[in-house]
Amino acid sequence: MKAKIQEKFESLFGEEGILYASAGRINLIGEHTDYNGGYVFPGAINFGIMAAIKPNGTDKVKVYSLDFDQMSEFGLKEEDKPKEAWACYVFGVCRETIKRGGTVKGFNAVFAGDVPLGAGLSSSAALESTFAYAVNDLFNDNKIEKFELAKIGQSTEHNYCGVKCGIMDQFASIFGKEGALIRLNCKTGEYKYFPFHPKGYKLVLIDSCVKHELASSAYNKRRESCEKAAAEIKKLHPEVDFLSDAKRLWLDEVRDKISQEDFLRAEYVIGEVQRVLDVCDALERDDYETVGEMMYQTHFGLSRLYEVSCEELDFLNKLARKMDVTGSRVMGGGFGGCTINLVKEELHDIFIETAVEKFTEKFGHAPKIYEVVISDGARKL
Ligand code: GLA
Repeated sequence: MKAKIQEKFESLFGEEGILYASAGRINLIGEHTDYNGGYVFPGAINFGIMAAIKPNGTDKVKVYSLDFDQMSEFGLKEEDKPKEAWACYVFGVCRETIKRGGTVKGFNAVFAGDVPLGAGLSSSAALESTFAYAVNDLFNDNKIEKFELAKIGQSTEHNYCGVKCGIMDQFASIFGKEGALIRLNCKTGEYKYFPFHPKGYKLVLIDSCVKHELASSAYNKRRESCEKAAAEIKKLHPEVDFLSDAKRLWLDEVRDKISQEDFLRAEYVIGEVQRVLDVCDALERDDYETVGEMMYQTHFGLSRLYEVSCEELDFLNKLARKMDVTGSRVMGGGFGGCTINLVKEELHDIFIETAVEKFTEKFGHAPKIYEVVISDGARKL
């Protein structure tokens, strides 16, 4: 990828660019908890975005996407938003940096990536983090703190891409470290690295290749449900700022004040926040059976209470259970994308073979299999 990017950069701009990269992410457990002030447990992966970048001495950005085979040119003022959807991520990062008092000047860039799009592996966070990191390095002497870089990516989603996401993806993509998952408390910003080398197990992602058209509006709607439930609980328990602050019992107290739908969403979230802590404890004991069981519970919640799964993902989850796979669940925002599976090594090959065969038979297209390695996040190469 590196050679291709540099080659294109040279042919377009007549010199070499400086190389930066960042990563997509997985999340072992803790889904839809981030915007509720709860815990998440992600790690960066060996699929990412790479970019060659060089200041160009103007006030314009020229950025070329190798994957879309397209150039976008834009200025750095609010009204200069580019028309290409992919370029809005780069533009948003520049704008959010400037809004925070940072410096961004014109630059040339070429980038490419291997994070599968729409698979729930956060290709967009990888793109935002690559550019946030680069802009900090090239124009701000690396003075913007890492957590702020993640927030720049998150605000890009909010203000330029229409997704009211939490902080998990951008956090993982910036803070990711080889061989470690990171437990983040999304309310306080405290985090802890957990070495993750499950002996005798593998992590396998199965991509249903299903993409939900309305995923971002459905996502925003889930967030609204949670905020409504939290606001109602706050009336009785003023210490509740986020749903993650609420006890399960407190939710029952407002049962007839909120819709049944909002109740179920909130019930899922409160359970999920606790499951992250349980999984971290289990990992410290090398108790992968408990980790896996929690993953199944998460899937149940995401499917029946939070309703962000789909037929294809439920099918893969059920098959995993039937084949005695240790843990399996839909990963990321949902509405399509992948299941993440914790599989005993001896079961690995037969599980994949069976999943591909049965899935293809039922849905008429093959799922994709990704073997992920927990890797470093944003960096200069
Ligand atoms: C998407 C969002 C994240 C998070 C997950 C669900 O990936 O970008 O902030 O909410 O969904 O856990």
